[in-house]
Parts: sequence; structure tokens; C-alpha cells
Amino acid sequence: NLIEPFDFIIFGATGDLTMRKLLPAFLRRFHAGEFTDDARLICIARSELTVEKFRQQVRSALKEFASDISKDNATLDRFLAILSYVPIDATQPDSDWGPVRDALKDQDRTRVFYLATAPALYAPLCAALAEHKLITRQSRIVLEKPIGVSLKTATEINDGVGRYFPEESIYRIDHYLGKEGVQNLLALRFANPVLEKLWCADAIEHVQITAAETVGVGTRGAYYDESGAMRDMVQNHLLQVLCMVAMDAPASLSADDLRNEKLKVLNALRPMTPDMVRQNVIRGQYIAGRIEDKPVPGYSEDLGHDRTSNTETFVAIRTKIRTARWGNVPFYLRTGKRMAAKSTEIVLQFKQQVWPIFTNTPSPGRLVIRIAPDEGLSLVVASKDPGAGGFRVRNAALNMSYENQFTIEYQDSYERLLLDAVRGNPALFIRRDEVEASWRWIEPILDSCRHSLSQLEPYPAGSWGPASTRALLARDGAMWHEDM
Ligand code: BG6
Repeated sequence: NLIEPFDFIIFGATGDLTMRKLLPAFLRRFHAGEFTDDARLICIARSELTVEKFRQQVRSALKEFASDISKDNATLDRFLAILSYVPIDATQPDSDWGPVRDALKDQDRTRVFYLATAPALYAPLCAALAEHKLITRQSRIVLEKPIGVSLKTATEINDGVGRYFPEESIYRIDHYLGKEGVQNLLALRFANPVLEKLWCADAIEHVQITAAETVGVGTRGAYYDESGAMRDMVQNHLLQVLCMVAMDAPASLSADDLRNEKLKVLNALRPMTPDMVRQNVIRGQYIAGRIEDKPVPGYSEDLGHDRTSNTETFVAIRTKIRTARWGNVPFYLRTGKRMAAKSTEIVLQFKQQVWPIFTNTPSPGRLVIRIAPDEGLSLVVASKDPGAGGFRVRNAALNMSYENQFTIEYQDSYERLLLDAVRGNPALFIRRDEVEASWRWIEPILDSCRHSLSQLEPYPAGSWGPASTRALLARDGAMWHEDM
């Protein structure tokens, strides 16, 4: 499984993502023996730092974010030796690219550029790479989300990058696709005909997709306040998960077969008129509350200087997918910061039995797919209540935890995806038309929100979002998983 020596160039190398996710992921794969000291990680950012100073920063980040593995000082030292650092301000034409050219002498190696910068820099950076003759036939480029802030800006970025890289060399990353539980949806659905038979409007009453977090915006306030939950989570992660839940079976697991099926789902999402936004979208912002029994401040205090902001930190959306499989089945999507629990999960609520013959009517069964934490499945079925008189039934759960079943340590999604990019496996990356289709659906919602057609409602930190979130489902006679 050893990967041939490669060059990996990270732009935005002093940023949060590089320190928290990218370099820890590389360290883990290095430790696992997936690549050797022959690889080169060339780190680029604006700060005027020496290599030594940069490595020191990385060392302390790795001690924090890969604390288990970085205890092994010998491995850590060998890993740090692979890293180089070049200060470049890509917006300045007189920046010195000489050290990058020198580091990238070997034209035949796999070369991956990773852009972890502001998306507005993607196209100018590609132009600079071309100007400095750094793009070879073996080159690929990885683009972090968000690709733009609207359909127009996404198209401009895609055009700008597409001028220098062919589509098959452009890897748009969505780390949710790297999650084991998200990939397992393919196995669950398409390797289990019995489940796939139920996976449609005949058997399913509704579908819930939740990505709840307990963290606030932390130090990312400046970015987040421009994005909000809709751009930060819904446009990419939630819609990708929705695609994996709702798509039809691809002809194969090839990148294009998968992406074609996902694209059909995005195109089949019912477009939202302003009226529909008013009725089907809830936006919230956290105020002070308690998380794990500790008081935490509200969003405006987190932003600093007690600023007020119209940015949503929570969204819930009710939508439908216009396909024969899904007919009238509502899909509820929700995500938020500072919620009651960290929980990424999918719930497929089954339909009620048509003719009740028991003393009581239990709530219908459901399948719960936990993506994080504790990846696993839980199938809730009705069962005879042994303690009750008469023929009463009640719900009982069949539980499976992947970790117990497979006793392996789960890789972080970035570990999987970074090395997929190096190996040239694009299946878990997003194609241009998918990004644009997502924006096409999201944009009318964002527009309506801008015109305040969906009010921003406060919710206390540590709750499940604004109170009206319950009413959104109650309308269909449904309830959120935590209320069941
Ligand atoms: C990122 C968002 O893409 O995903 C963050 O920018 C969010 O705001 C994160 O916290 C959530 O990822 P995960 O893997 O912890 O669910």
C-alpha cells in the first residue's frame, strides 16, 4: 500500500485547517507507513517565518491534535524533516517563488497543490502556478470548501481554476465524504437488497439528517460571520449526505457513476420560492446558555465587541425530492453550533402499520444511522412488551457499533481524502456540476433570508435550536429524533 514519493504543496499552511487537520492526518499516515521520508510537504503562507520557526509551530500543533502519535518523538522528528516552508504572498506579483521552483525540480513525481486559503485566491493562485511553470502533467489541485459564496462566484472560481487544470485533475474536497459512516451508506443500501427494498416512499414516512455541534464559532468568527450555517454546512456537507441517502444505485463505484447519481438528486430538489422559504426554513442564532453544565456566551459575544449580526448559526430545512423513489416524503435537514450534543446522524422513519390490531399502537419503527460519534446503526422495531398485560407492543432497538464490530481504529476523514488525492482517486471528491447544482438550490434560500423572509430566532446554547424547529415537523405529524 506504499505510495510512491510525491510532492504536496499546501497554500494557507499556517491556518487552522492545516494545523488541526491536514498535518495531523499526514503524520498519522506517515506513522502507519503509507508513505516514506521521500515525500515532500511544501508549506506556503504569507507569514515571514523560517523553516525552523514553522516546524516549531507544527510540532506544538501536532502535540495537541495528534497527541497519541506525536508522543513518538523519533517519528515526529522524521515527519517534521519532510516539511519545508516558503513565505509567499500570492497576491503580490513580486513574491519570490524561487524556493518553490527549486523544491519542485522533479517533473515526474505526483504533484498535488492544496488550496486551504480564502476561495477568492483560488483562481489567482492557479494563474501564479502557471506563470511560474509549476503545473505538470502529473499535477492535481485540491480545493477546500466553500467553493464561492454564490452560484456566480462558484462559477467564476471553477472557470478560473479550469483555465489551468482539466476537470479530472480538480479535487473539490468535502470532508463529510471521507467519513466512514457516510461511505458506508453505499454498502448499507446497495449491498443489502432487503434494506434497499424499503428505501423509498412506500415504506418511509420521512428522513432526518442532523449535524449538530456543541462547539461555538471559536476563533473563526470573521469567516463564519460571512458564511453562516447555510454556506458553512448545508450547501456542502448536508447536501452531500442527502445525496448519499437519496440517490439511486450507481452503475458502478467509479467516480463519474457516483457523481452522476448524486447530481440527479441535487437537480431533483424542490426549488424554494420565497413563500416556501418562509414556511420551510428556520434560521437561528445561539444566545448564552449552558453546554455540559458550563455557562457559555452567545454568538455576538463570541464574535467580540458585542457585535450584533444577522448570521444564522442554526438552520432547519424541510424539503422534498421530486423523484419516483421519494414522491411526497419530507426530508428534514438541520445543523447548528452550540447545540445540546455533538451528533451527526440520519433517521429514516418508517410508516405506521395500516391496520392496528394490538392493544396499543407503538410509534412506528425507524433506522438510525450514526455518523458521529460512535458510528453505527440502530434499527428500532416494535416488539411484544413482556411486562404488560394484553398484547401490548413497544419499541426495542437492535444496535450495532462499527467500532465493536470491526475492532479497527477509524481514520479521520482527512487521512483518507488526502491520500486519495495523492493516489489519484477522485470518487470521494465533488465534480463541478455538483457544486453548481448545490448553489442553484441554496441561493434562492439565501436571497429570501437576506430579505428577512425567514426571521432569525434566538436559541439558548445547549438546546436543540429555536422552538419553532419542532413545529416544522409537527405540521407533518412528525418529531425530531431526540423527542421520540
Ligand atoms: C467544517 C465547518 O467544514 O465542518 C465547521 O467549516 C464545522 O464549521 C465542521 O465545525 C464540522 O465537521 P465535523 O467533522 O466535526 O462534523
